[in-house]
Amino acid sequence: MGFLQRTHACGSLRAEHAGQQVALNGWAHKVRDLGGLCFIDFRDRTGLVQLVLDPNSLPNLSEIRHETCLSVSGEVRVRDEQTKNPKMPTGEIEIIVTGYTVLGPAKPLPFPLSDEEQMQSVNEELRIKHRYIDLRRPSMYRKLAIRAGVIRRMRAYLDNQGFIETETPIITKSTPEGARDYLVAYRLEPGQWYALPQSPQQYKQLLMVAGIERYYQIAKCFRDESQRADRQPEFTQLDLEMSFVTQEDVLNLAEGLLRDVLNGVVEEFGLDKAPIEPFERLTFDEAMLLYGCDKPDLRFGLKLFDITPLVANSGFGVFKSIAESGGMIRGVRYPGGAQLSRKEVGQLEEFCKEFGAKGMASLGVVAASEAGEEARVVGDLAVKSSIAKFFSDEELAQILKTAQAEAGDLLCFIADEYASGNNVLYRLRNEIGDRCGLRDPRVLKFCWVIDFPLVEWNAEDGRWDAVHHPFTGPKDEDLIYIDSDPGKIRADCYDVVCNGVEMASGSIRIHRPDIQSKVFKLLGIDEETQKERFGHMLEAFSYGAPPHGGIAPGVDRLVMLLNDTENIREVIAFPKIGGGYDPMMEAPSTIDPQQWAELGLRMSK
Ligand code: AMO
Ligand code: AMP
Repeated sequence: MGFLQRTHACGSLRAEHAGQQVALNGWAHKVRDLGGLCFIDFRDRTGLVQLVLDPNSLPNLSEIRHETCLSVSGEVRVRDEQTKNPKMPTGEIEIIVTGYTVLGPAKPLPFPLSDEEQMQSVNEELRIKHRYIDLRRPSMYRKLAIRAGVIRRMRAYLDNQGFIETETPIITKSTPEGARDYLVAYRLEPGQWYALPQSPQQYKQLLMVAGIERYYQIAKCFRDESQRADRQPEFTQLDLEMSFVTQEDVLNLAEGLLRDVLNGVVEEFGLDKAPIEPFERLTFDEAMLLYGCDKPDLRFGLKLFDITPLVANSGFGVFKSIAESGGMIRGVRYPGGAQLSRKEVGQLEEFCKEFGAKGMASLGVVAASEAGEEARVVGDLAVKSSIAKFFSDEELAQILKTAQAEAGDLLCFIADEYASGNNVLYRLRNEIGDRCGLRDPRVLKFCWVIDFPLVEWNAEDGRWDAVHHPFTGPKDEDLIYIDSDPGKIRADCYDVVCNGVEMASGSIRIHRPDIQSKVFKLLGIDEETQKERFGHMLEAFSYGAPPHGGIAPGVDRLVMLLNDTENIREVIAFPKIGGGYDPMMEAPSTIDPQQWAELGLRMSK
């Protein structure tokens, strides 16, 4: 066997074990050879404990290096008062080692695993190339344990509510969610391909037709799309679907589930998070108007305001001309921003320009009692700005009122078309939130965004695209616009957003073949293509399909929230780096000439 049956886990040893003989298995986390004695922080998955080894009785100690895998036996001893370490749970004791066996010798490491601070500066690709070492760090183990806790609680919650976990195929036909497919060549008929599912969307709907009524799955999804900090080409959803439900039913179930799971994990792991409150609800239109985006960070207020009607006839040419051409002039408060120097305001304007703004006009607001010579007094307040001269006292008073301005604010204005203005204002608001310390990581502020439009115009390709996916149900009362004004149709479609990030998305589905066919047609999928790509759905819907709907929270993103990281790779055991590359497995990789031939494939120049 070579190793001893362990009697204890390293992290479990305490003063009460003093005098006991123990056997431990694990790794030499940190080796300190002090000449006379050798001290080792010894690690297993439960934590660290200090070993003391005497070279007089154990002569080959130099064979033990960082990360050598060992089996040790020894006696637990309470440490001298001055050498106790209150920072370690096992810091009151140490193990006087009487014998050990090297189970796995270790070469010098590619990075200094035992020093968390030094690890911060280690190149991430190098960590992922040696992920089997990187994951040995207690901090990484904890992230995976939190992830497992989330999934365990999801299963328990849904099992309790009568859902059945059902697996669906990975090699299948394209299920579009707006990304490119990963394809798998079919050996038996060259030219035929499987696609990996972008989500189990079609299968879960077919399970509803099959009478399952309540389905869930911890589902792997595959999307060949550009990567971002919160996107991986292969990621995990908690995918669920229910029959005979309204939007309200799905919202209630998903909110109950998310609060129960996340609050439970916060408690289990002692995470520093406030309990999650009931989710606020916003319509898509409200979210866009008040926050400039469909994923608002509601940890802070600072709602956008609109001064278009107030300045449309003012003397400020920039605002006037944009208002006349159908644009809007909207703004956001920056509390404390009145103190910014001219240069700093210029930098904020540059920030806006990075997101396509043509400019950013601003007004500094101070208390009238503290106004300097150059300020214009307006009631209790006074404004300092190079653009103040373009406005009458009445106009300024109305602007301050609309903005709900307070002394110390910098009012920032963006004049633009609605959509492009929103994009700038949304980023500016978040930037202000960051600068004012309003985005507290301890707070998980969830909301629902509902009533999304069914489709959006894709000007580049000259067609309507599904906002969610092609199976999303239009609101009954909006179906009348399907031929005349499709952009006006709202869908029974909803997102869960937390702290400015989309966490989940779902909808009530179409379950009638005639309506599904109409929506496909609206999306530019002609009848022949419908039959070829989605004939199975249309046919299934014609055999007694129940009304149904569901949602899919992104598991990785929820685990990111709990771990306070904005990097999705930190919560995935074996993530891909840029370009979808896995530096550890060196995947993707070439294939044998024989495999090319078997698959009937040839490289074209
Ligand atoms: P959607 O495409 O919005 O909906 O995805 C649902 C949730 O999955 C997560 N997510 C991702 N996480 C990591 N990396 C990615 N590349 C990635 N893409 C999406 C997000 C997102 O909110 N079938 C529908 C769901 C339904 O209608 O029931 C779907 O897949 O958290
Ligand atoms: P200009 O007339 O271009 O010198 O701009 C005068 C002021 O208006 C400057 O502070 C600009 O930043 C600002 N400004 C210009 N274009 C816009 C815009 N589209 N929205 C908001 N402010 C703008």
